[in-house]
Amino acid sequence: MAAYVPPALRLGVNLDHIATIRQARHTPYPDLMHAVRLAEASGADSITLHLREDRRHIQDDDVFGIKPRLARPLNLEMAATDGMQAIALKLLPEACCIVPERREELTTEGGLDAVGQQVRLHDFVQPLAAAGIEVSLFVEPDLRQLEAAVAIGAPVVELHTGAYANARDPEQRARLIEGLFEAARVGHEMGLVINAGHGLDYDNVRPIAAHPLFHELNIGHSIIARALFTGLPEAVSHMRGVMDAARRDGA
Ligand code: PXP
Repeated sequence: MAAYVPPALRLGVNLDHIATIRQARHTPYPDLMHAVRLAEASGADSITLHLREDRRHIQDDDVFGIKPRLARPLNLEMAATDGMQAIALKLLPEACCIVPERREELTTEGGLDAVGQQVRLHDFVQPLAAAGIEVSLFVEPDLRQLEAAVAIGAPVVELHTGAYANARDPEQRARLIEGLFEAARVGHEMGLVINAGHGLDYDNVRPIAAHPLFHELNIGHSIIARALFTGLPEAVSHMRGVMDAARRDGA
């Protein structure tokens, strides 16, 4: 079999909402591992799972059961708590994305305050990095947050695309995308790997995917929503195709 050559722009498929449907009834189905297999076979470069503090979707058994069976790297999203750090050090995912968490939020609604928590996050990140986990910080596209990420020792940032994705006013949207591009440029100059995610769909992903500095996009909700009608393989490969076309031909 030919060696797997990763495409220039990586797609991390977030499968949390497969578990959301399962947890709604505490049934054994839909089978998360089945979803992992389909996503991997359809163009996912990594599998992203968010083990939330309230365990509203992904469970501990999911991450420990799936990790040894993955064909692609695991990106574990988690809050910066001692409990999560212990889980990550036991699980040893290839990548770990540190996100802020509030129990009452619908989803991760803002970036991490890396500036305000610089010392704490530095101490939090060091054991993960020492264990060989590639740590990223989920931050707003803000110069000070990028500087803090460098000081903390995180090699990767994931830029929060939620404000851009939610903006309906074209001028505001244009301003927000410029902010993301500027953050990608500055972060890249600082030596950071630039990922992005949150709220990306088959349309708003194009300008981000077309920009050469983005390394990986983590996308979940829009893919799972489409999969309800088309099936997961089509939903993943369609996103893969949209991203590849944008990177190749421009948005
Ligand atoms: N990246 C991060 C850090 C997230 O917290 C999430 C949501 O869990 C995503 C990406 C995926 O966002 P969405 O489900 O809106 O595509």
